[in-house]
Amino acid sequence: MEKNKTILIVDDEEVITSCIQEFLSVFEYEFIVANTGQQALDVLSSQSVDLVLLDIMMPELDGFEVCKSIKGNPETKNIPVLMITALKEVKDRIMSMKAGADDFLPKPFDMTELQIRVKSLLRIKSYHDEVTRSRDVLQEKNAELEQLEEFKKDLLNMIVHDLKGPLTPIVFSLELLRRERHEFSSENQKHLDVAFKHCRDLQDMVDEILMIARMEEDKMTLNLAHGHLQTLTHDVMGAFSKEIQAKKITSTIEVDPEVPEVIFDHSIIRRVIFNLADNAYRHTPVDGKINVTIGLSDDRRKIIWSIWNSGIGIPPAMHEEIFQKFAQASGKKAGLLRGKSGLGLPFCNMAITAHGGNIWLESNGDSQGARFTFSLPVEV
Ligand SMILES: Nc1ncnc2c1ncn2[C@@H]1O[C@H](COP(=O)(O)OP(=O)(O)OP(=O)(O)O)[C@@H](O)[C@H]1O
Ligand SMILES: [Mg+2]
Repeated sequence: MEKNKTILIVDDEEVITSCIQEFLSVFEYEFIVANTGQQALDVLSSQSVDLVLLDIMMPELDGFEVCKSIKGNPETKNIPVLMITALKEVKDRIMSMKAGADDFLPKPFDMTELQIRVKSLLRIKSYHDEVTRSRDVLQEKNAELEQLEEFKKDLLNMIVHDLKGPLTPIVFSLELLRRERHEFSSENQKHLDVAFKHCRDLQDMVDEILMIARMEEDKMTLNLAHGHLQTLTHDVMGAFSKEIQAKKITSTIEVDPEVPEVIFDHSIIRRVIFNLADNAYRHTPVDGKINVTIGLSDDRRKIIWSIWNSGIGIPPAMHEEIFQKFAQASGKKAGLLRGKSGLGLPFCNMAITAHGGNIWLESNGDSQGARFTFSLPVEV
């Protein structure tokens, strides 16, 4: 059952405090009486109160001072204060409001008026308490969730890290077996190739998850070195000759000859370009096109690297989400089942941001293809 509301009545005249209690006796309120301002503040510092009915003219600490002190204290500022006074001048009302009072009732007051004001201020206090309680519960839940999320992340990173151990000797052993491939039947050679490819994919995925975790914790140090993005691009794009052949894709690379050397982490940017190219090749239909351009921004302070591929593209509603971890335009789990993790673009996003650049996507998702572009500052 809800606890009765507690009203603190502050007045130096006993007739008034008794009269107020009498007027409000129809309700089940608890009353505390204080005969001086100081007594009122003492009560407020030790007990929980829902409403203060406060006289203005009191010896020593007057009602204005008491009200100011209630409203100036974070512990009590939300307790409504109703000023009850014989002062009738407008300036007294203004002073009450300035002191932070919530309402003002001139003496002599009638019973109904007092009852209405008290009820309405108590209702406001209840709403406020409810909101505060909900906020506290939410804050607590939020803190718990954050802790859980942190724990999950640590656990995931630990598991992923531990996967690295057994994967390295598996890939190594498969590599050794592949050197002796002629000793296997053609059927078994295929099995070997499939096992090898998937292990390498798994290794890449593990590396990417660990790199993302390090970047998220700001623990990633970039191994910066001078280099030409075009050299790296030709190198990476060359690895897709199988896809080009299989799908009869027309692939071009256009480079502005004025693009200078830049400083970047070669293995990370290689992975970024590989991820973008891998996405492009996978989403380009048979007889489709892929075009890479490398140029400079108008102010020549950034290198603009861009890849466009023909195909269905990506609807605008997905553009933001796609750079978040594990998001895939075709539905969240579908990719995972195909051995795709949905980590490629989040990785690119973090890697480019760590280099002081930006990455973005332009596509209407209306079969006009998709263009992914990143910028890198010419001078880091
Ligand atoms: N060029 C593109 N055309 C159409 N859709 C694309 C293109 N590039 C990315 N996408 C969509 O964005 C999703 C996320 O891409 P992302 O590279 O992050 O993950 P993934 O390719 O599914 O897996 P991973 O790269 O980790 O192996 C893809 O699953 C795909 O739905
Ligand atoms: Mg990808």
